Amino acid sequence: MPISIKLGIAGRLFTAALACRTLAATVPTGRLFIQSTSPEVPLYVYTPIPESGLEPRNIHLSFGDNETSVVVTWSTRNDTQSQVQLMSVQPPNATEKLYNGSSTIFVDSGTKKATQYVHRVTLPDLGWGGLFKYRCGSQATGWSDWFEFRTPKRGFSPRLAMFGDMGMVNAQSLPRLMQDASAGMYDAILHVGDFAYDMQEQDGATGDQFMQMIQPIAARLPYMTCVGNHEFMYNFSHYKNRFTMPKGFGGDGESMFYSFDLGPAHIIGISTEFYFFVEYGVDQLKSQYDWLQADLERASKNRAARPWIIIMGHRPMYCSNDDGDDCTFGALFMREGFLARWYPLEPLLQKYGVDLALWAHEHTYERMWPVTRLEVRNGSWAEPYSEPRGTVHVVTGSAGCRERHDTFGSPMYYSAFRSTDYGYTRMQIFNSTHLSLEQVSDDQQGRIIDRITIVQHNHGPFP
Ligand SMILES: [Fe+2]
Repeated sequence: MPISIKLGIAGRLFTAALACRTLAATVPTGRLFIQSTSPEVPLYVYTPIPESGLEPRNIHLSFGDNETSVVVTWSTRNDTQSQVQLMSVQPPNATEKLYNGSSTIFVDSGTKKATQYVHRVTLPDLGWGGLFKYRCGSQATGWSDWFEFRTPKRGFSPRLAMFGDMGMVNAQSLPRLMQDASAGMYDAILHVGDFAYDMQEQDGATGDQFMQMIQPIAARLPYMTCVGNHEFMYNFSHYKNRFTMPKGFGGDGESMFYSFDLGPAHIIGISTEFYFFVEYGVDQLKSQYDWLQADLERASKNRAARPWIIIMGHRPMYCSNDDGDDCTFGALFMREGFLARWYPLEPLLQKYGVDLALWAHEHTYERMWPVTRLEVRNGSWAEPYSEPRGTVHVVTGSAGCRERHDTFGSPMYYSAFRSTDYGYTRMQIFNSTHLSLEQVSDDQQGRIIDRITIVQHNHGPFP
């Protein structure tokens, strides 16, 4: 799609960052428009955090309880109404529809006790294949800019971008992700934990700035998340309060564990952090485990409709980095449970035949051979991702943050491809049998450095 860009000085800086990796972390200080060809609706509007306290900021979308429902979440400093004006662009409909929602008060636990109101408005059952524009705020206190989003077409093949560990500083992948998204390459984003570095810093201003930085993408595409260790402060309250993950299949209602259906896939988000921050209670380990088992049971009965089961969590079960703990003791906890004993996750992946596991935390990219219980389970050595009898694990934590790269140790027998380049992963779920992954390198100007297709005709338990 042709795109015209009109921008100020800060915007030019931002665009320069597309070409110059060293500027990739530059956050514009002025308004930035990237316009689509559709009438007067910018695909992207970056606006610095409004000063008034009344104007919406940190605007983002997530899926509601089904693929054609969307939740709009934003925040204000002051207590305002929660309204969304929605207009259908395709098919055209000049009538604006007004939706009402509600807000919750969120007080940061730092010394300033910085307060904000987080607004949530659900736009239910918008139908397949629509193009909409919306703005949020309220009639009384003013509106945001207009943003545009689409609902998927019936029978679509979902296209996603996924990554973890992207912070305010050194967000290397963000400019290219914006460029991709403005070209309409994705149906949703998966951010696999570790946001902002860290959201609670500067009494929460770092979280506000990060959410504003991703707004140009997240206000247009469902920005689906799971929690990371960098959100641990104040019992993960910044994460829980700022995001709105679906509740359609139960979950904890605080976005820590949940699931949703997307095309031929059932996608699950979990908190790996429950296994490590046990000072916040061990009962949540049990709650999540019990829910996950029930969710997988339900998903396996629905496999004819949603054959792919995909799980995402922050800390990997398999990796070969040389940090001395996360790929050994941390991964052990993830596979075998807390203290290698309680609530082990890998037996669930095996029992229910989870096809794909997405992790981050290590600031690198690593794709494993299909593996179950430490055993490589290739379908065949000629076509290793054809009919695999184990979960395909991928670690994608290299989108860029102030901690920069991690490094690898010697490859493990289950390591299939490794890269320390900054970058992110694209996934397309073509149909019930074919799913592809590709790794984009920001160090190599967007070159695809790894690509695989998983072929699976027999989704189900692994022997
Ligand atoms: Fe992490």
